[in-house]
Amino acid sequence: MIPQSIAEAVLAAERLEAFPRAAARILKVVENPNSSILDLERAVADDPSVSARLVKTANSPYFGMSRTIGNLRDALMMLGFRATHRLAITMATVGRAPGPFGPTLWMDALATGAACRAVCRAIGGRVDEDEAQLAGLLHDIGILVLLRVDPAGENRLLKEQWASGDLLAAERARYGFDHAELGAACLERWQFPVTLARAVATHHVAPDAMAKAKVEPFQVVVALGAVLARPTNRAGAREYSGLIDLGPAGLEQAVADAALLRDAPL
Ligand SMILES: [Fe+2]
Ligand SMILES: [Fe+2]
Repeated sequence: MIPQSIAEAVLAAERLEAFPRAAARILKVVENPNSSILDLERAVADDPSVSARLVKTANSPYFGMSRTIGNLRDALMMLGFRATHRLAITMATVGRAPGPFGPTLWMDALATGAACRAVCRAIGGRVDEDEAQLAGLLHDIGILVLLRVDPAGENRLLKEQWASGDLLAAERARYGFDHAELGAACLERWQFPVTLARAVATHHVAPDAMAKAKVEPFQVVVALGAVLARPTNRAGAREYSGLIDLGPAGLEQAVADAALLRDAPL
């Protein structure tokens, strides 16, 4: 179907479970300050494929464990609360992007999440790097939703526009809105923090427009992260970094760090 409005697309996304129930439960657990890792385990266990991937991640050579981690509880203990939350939500959503662009979107999400974290470090911790990485991981969630709601249409747009075109303009022409607006609307609906939704909404806003709109540093970090994740076209990187007082050397450092972080399992 071709959704006629953002509201219609959000409802269709819900119907199609673009945001699985397990992910919603994980989010609730994380928001509740009284939650324990056992609550998190219960929420994650609802989704067998996510559980399996978490166990696999905990066994990755990155962590250098001498023994094999065989169950979900041990995996969660090792990964910790916040990393588990970030991993599980991302695997349950972006990790299930349907169609031929699934792997591309997954790689772009990982690269953007890593770049957002690296930028946070480069600007000296003014922005929460865990939250920025999650925003980077989820920045293109609107594409994922469109792939579920209008698979043929969005797949065609991606094929024509992903590498070098103007995906946003093409989406606006087809739907009357773009994946950044839709992604933000979905994240709000699913009760993610409003800072996160706001950053997803503006991840394609040009640097000069951002300067005029006096956006928050968090939004600039996510827009810059999305640009840095695409090594063939980093147009705008300098201008974005200027908005958060990140000089050329700092930017270079962030690019190098991002490459290292990308290979770490979230
Ligand atoms: Fe995007
Ligand atoms: Fe992207």
